[in-house]
Amino acid sequence: MASNQQWNRAGLPAWTYRSERLLSVEAKRVFANHWHVVGHVNDIPASGDWLTFDLLGERALVIRGRDNEVRAFHNTCRHRGSRLVEGESGHCRGALACPFHAWVYDLDGQLKRPAQPDNFPELDPREWGLKGIELEIWRGFMFIRFEAGPQPSVAAMMQRHEAELHPYPLESLQPTDGIYSSPVTPVNWKAMVDVDNECYHCPTIHRGLSDLYGGRYEEGPWIEGTHRIRGPFNESEPRHELNQRYRALVDQHPEPFAELPRAWLYIGMFPVSVLMFYPESVGFYRSIPIDATHSVMTGATYRYDGESESMRDARALSLEIDDAVMIEDKRACELHYEANASQYWQQAILGDSEKAVREHHDMLRALIPELNAPAEPISFESNTGGS
Ligand code: FES
Ligand SMILES: [Fe+2]
Repeated sequence: MASNQQWNRAGLPAWTYRSERLLSVEAKRVFANHWHVVGHVNDIPASGDWLTFDLLGERALVIRGRDNEVRAFHNTCRHRGSRLVEGESGHCRGALACPFHAWVYDLDGQLKRPAQPDNFPELDPREWGLKGIELEIWRGFMFIRFEAGPQPSVAAMMQRHEAELHPYPLESLQPTDGIYSSPVTPVNWKAMVDVDNECYHCPTIHRGLSDLYGGRYEEGPWIEGTHRIRGPFNESEPRHELNQRYRALVDQHPEPFAELPRAWLYIGMFPVSVLMFYPESVGFYRSIPIDATHSVMTGATYRYDGESESMRDARALSLEIDDAVMIEDKRACELHYEANASQYWQQAILGDSEKAVREHHDMLRALIPELNAPAEPISFESNTGGS
């Protein structure tokens, strides 16, 4: 029976998926001033441990100080702007030394000393310390934003999920393989998020995943910046051998993990972060733009503290299932994205089960009213700030 739900079913216009000018506006109005998950405090357990997060030219460095505090800074030396640390994670002993001219910073960001101090007038250690970035730790997960914006705190946004997430022991999660990075190209970041915001494609694209869950798939609306998707395992026995082995292992999880729901639960946070809660692991991923037509999926998986052998084996299998899903989703992104190169393709029509795609678009439209224009505007100036 045809849907008689009344809502605007138009997707974003095609030009919005290929415009470099738009991306520079998105960098300011969508990415710089909204929260992004960057890792877990247990990724950096010791003083001097650090990890980085790069986003459209901005660079964050999250580091644990001598006082055990975790702080976030711009990964930018105050002398001539060099990266202070290179790579995704690491450890520094006692102080951060810039690789360019060797200015040295304390772990709390203060400038310890410029190299050859006689070169400079007296430099105040605080004034010339690393510039801080806003950091919030929610149940062990670290979120940053480069500048204040319209979102409330992460805790406030996650509050409506608190009861459901309560049974998951998140604070004591342990890292597994570090942060992965998987290019998705040629694809605009919004095409990745669009694919992520609907499971209408699941029966065709994700045959294996549909065999694991799908019968009682629950997808809520985006509400105040978060989105909930839950796939309880199908009641029927899986047909795929990988799913059979995985389900059998989940049945062996010891207490208290045996109490965790037999479901894969996903909580999305606008604009591009998703946290995943499984019976044997927890993880996150993000759809990160490189430029208008190149993107990258980055994320990490964590194990529960005290995991059993069956949980470790189940984690390996859920990772295998997810790797297949990621490859399938890359194909979905490409199928979706390719049309935007054609001058005859205008925009998508969305079904009821793709309503979350529209809702994400609506949040973007609220920040960038020009997204309503059928063709790329000449100027991006508007009352929400110029570009
Ligand atoms: S750029 Fe860092 S010391 Fe010169
Ligand atoms: Fe998918």
